[in-house]
Amino acid sequence: MAVTQAIPITRHPYADGSYKRMLIDGQWIDAASGKRFETHNPATGELLASVAEGDVEDINRAVAAARRAFEGPWSKVKPYERQGLLLKLADLVEKHFEELSQLDTMDMGAPISRTRGNRLRVLGMLRYYAGQATALHGETIENSLPGDIFSYTLKEPVGVVGAIIPWNGPLAATVWKIGPAIATGCTVVLKPAEEAPLTSLRLAELCMEAGVPPGVVNVVPGYGETAGAALASHPDVDKVAFTGSHVTGQSIIRASAGNLKRVSLELGGKSPDIVFADADLDAAVPGAAMAVFANSGQICSAGTRLFVEEKVYDEFVGRVAEFGKKLQVGNGLDPGTQIGPLVSQQQMDRVAGYLDIGQKEGAKAVAGGSRLTEGALSKGFFVQPTVFANVQDNMRIAQEEIFGPVISAISFKDTDELVKRANATTFGLGSGVWTTNVSKAHQVAKALRAGSVWVNCYQAMDPAVPFGGYKMSGYGRESGKQHVEEYLNVKAVWIKTA
Ligand code: NAI
Ligand code: MG
Repeated sequence: MAVTQAIPITRHPYADGSYKRMLIDGQWIDAASGKRFETHNPATGELLASVAEGDVEDINRAVAAARRAFEGPWSKVKPYERQGLLLKLADLVEKHFEELSQLDTMDMGAPISRTRGNRLRVLGMLRYYAGQATALHGETIENSLPGDIFSYTLKEPVGVVGAIIPWNGPLAATVWKIGPAIATGCTVVLKPAEEAPLTSLRLAELCMEAGVPPGVVNVVPGYGETAGAALASHPDVDKVAFTGSHVTGQSIIRASAGNLKRVSLELGGKSPDIVFADADLDAAVPGAAMAVFANSGQICSAGTRLFVEEKVYDEFVGRVAEFGKKLQVGNGLDPGTQIGPLVSQQQMDRVAGYLDIGQKEGAKAVAGGSRLTEGALSKGFFVQPTVFANVQDNMRIAQEEIFGPVISAISFKDTDELVKRANATTFGLGSGVWTTNVSKAHQVAKALRAGSVWVNCYQAMDPAVPFGGYKMSGYGRESGKQHVEEYLNVKAVWIKTA
């Protein structure tokens, strides 16, 4: 494995160590408590900024501002105007895309090639939601009641949305929550992850520049147990859109009970990626490897349970291991870096814990297996891309979300039995199938209990195609026309006409 040493760091205008306030009601303000927290570059430990630390009182203020905006002038803003705001925001994000990519890379570690590579999707999302803003409509529905009574539906914005996001792709995650809110006429209070709050704050600046009215988009950084919990339980929030771990998802559901707020959850996974012996192995090797190693494994739909048909198991797993060993690990700002650090000490300790667990359970690390602590890497949270062979279905490394660059390779013989084993997980987010047999591809795609199935590819995403989970990977869909429905209420109107 190659280790990147040369790091051409330029100081980022938004991550220069200075203090960042939160955005409430169009104003950049301090936390009510005056508290701040720091955010660092996980590749170097370098201080990027200190950030206002929101808590209950700040959430209360932000929700009140979002409510005023929702019931005030924002409710009169026409679809064309909301579309215009999203298009303007898209242009600003495009103009500042390099800066935003660098900010994501510095705040959470992803390679710059990856954050730059998100361009099409991020801009595409904003422009897709812009399109949706003028495509919302109810229906007229014929009814069978006696007499003349006419029935139709109205689609109305659900109201004040609390958005809580993780750190693994801050720019895309922020756009994924704010976009549908603006498109539908909702207002939003967004709490970024404490590990990587900067891009959300910078995007909030661009929202202001685009002319988004005060109170429509509010961003309150802070910790999950304080600011996050206050938002999730707030009686005047109509919906929570959450992305993160299933454990926190469960507490979001409990917190929603007070006012029965609507909830959508995009949670974790332990996604099966299945390689049949008839697959194009030259394509499947990098495909299966990057289905996990991309973003250092910190992707909810990573294909971490690699099922390989017995006939090609040794060859295929060996090739994936060789691929993993050659990946360039280093500071994400280096354009040559393919694998950056994990986001935090805590995340690295979690992942390192699973590396020990895998070895104790009897799996064999045929690539990686430990932390990286040499030279320039000693200051960051680096783990070797790891491939465990000889993994059994019931091992913890085959069942629990690791959220690190760790592949658990499992062998299979029979296709029917394989589908049962692939589905034998509490999760159901992503899945992959590698085969040149089109019938098999269709059969397995139908049988897998997961929100996305990728055949001869992995992790394809598009703003127009719905994404979300089965089982404990959550409910609700993001992207696609289903997404805006999550932000809308349906009202039935009956009019007696005679
Ligand atoms: P997390 O689910 O605790 O954090 C995600 C967001 O929820 C953050 O903004 C956090 O501040 C907030 N939060 C935490 N506790 C909260 C609460 N009680 N009420 C409201 N909001 C709360 O995930 P974390 O701690 O960052 O990572 C732990 C593990 O979760 C990872 O190792 C990974 O396995 C999984 N995870 C999965 C993600 C996914 O996209 N599926 C994303 C992030 C983490
Ligand atoms: Mg947490």
